[in-house]
Amino acid sequence: MRIVLKIGGSLVFSDKIDVELVKNVSKQIVSLSKNHEFLIVVGGGKIAREYIGALKLIGKDDTFLDFIGMEVAKLNASLFMGAFEDKAPVEVSSDFKHALATVYLGKIPVLGGTHPGHTTDAVSAMLSEFVDADIFLRFTNVDGVYDKDPRKFKDAKKLDKISHEDLLAIVEDTKAVAGVNTVIDPLAAKILKRSNIKTIVCGKEELSNIGAVIKGKHKGTEIG
Ligand code: UTP
Repeated sequence: MRIVLKIGGSLVFSDKIDVELVKNVSKQIVSLSKNHEFLIVVGGGKIAREYIGALKLIGKDDTFLDFIGMEVAKLNASLFMGAFEDKAPVEVSSDFKHALATVYLGKIPVLGGTHPGHTTDAVSAMLSEFVDADIFLRFTNVDGVYDKDPRKFKDAKKLDKISHEDLLAIVEDTKAVAGVNTVIDPLAAKILKRSNIKTIVCGKEELSNIGAVIKGKHKGTEIG
């Protein structure tokens, strides 16, 4: 299978870089890459939001902030590049063609941000479309898709399986501003729907057994 896997920046960095997580996840991906092709996208997380918040106070515009968020995500992506050993690419991919060429070289491409105006969810969705991925796996600090924001509503229910239409309906109202943090970027939801890409949204715990998630054994949400 060809798999696009996104790791939320918040999983890589909470108070400091989670080196054990980076090493453990990379080891699994390298091992699974004997049977699958992987393309890895990493988010900017807390550090990106710190920089974006500071530069907003300084008075910079949204596009400037987006460029900074993209760079932080690339920095986070470089952690995995560092841990991929002989499967490591020579640099973080800044575009989809470079990422696909890296797959053809037998290496595992890693990406952060690509263009201003969206998030790494949208990067992952566009990349999935471009490389014709069989599946998009998204690991974040929320363990699935809920009918409403679980961080705000105690009675929010996790959904085991939903359609792309339902996902779009849940996220449609989200504002597109730098550093915004939602279940999934609405642009990503639109792209995943138009290409009908099977998507799995899981929490941090499930990163300990990526092989099981690929086989459909997970507690997250399947979209498609
Ligand atoms: P992320 O996609 O990493 O957002 O990009 P996030 O909400 O922190 O994601 P998680 O928590 O890691 O999953 C951070 C910011 O960088 C800019 C946007 O402003 C985004 O909100 N960005 C990122 C871009 O403008 N373009 C990109 O391709 C990627």
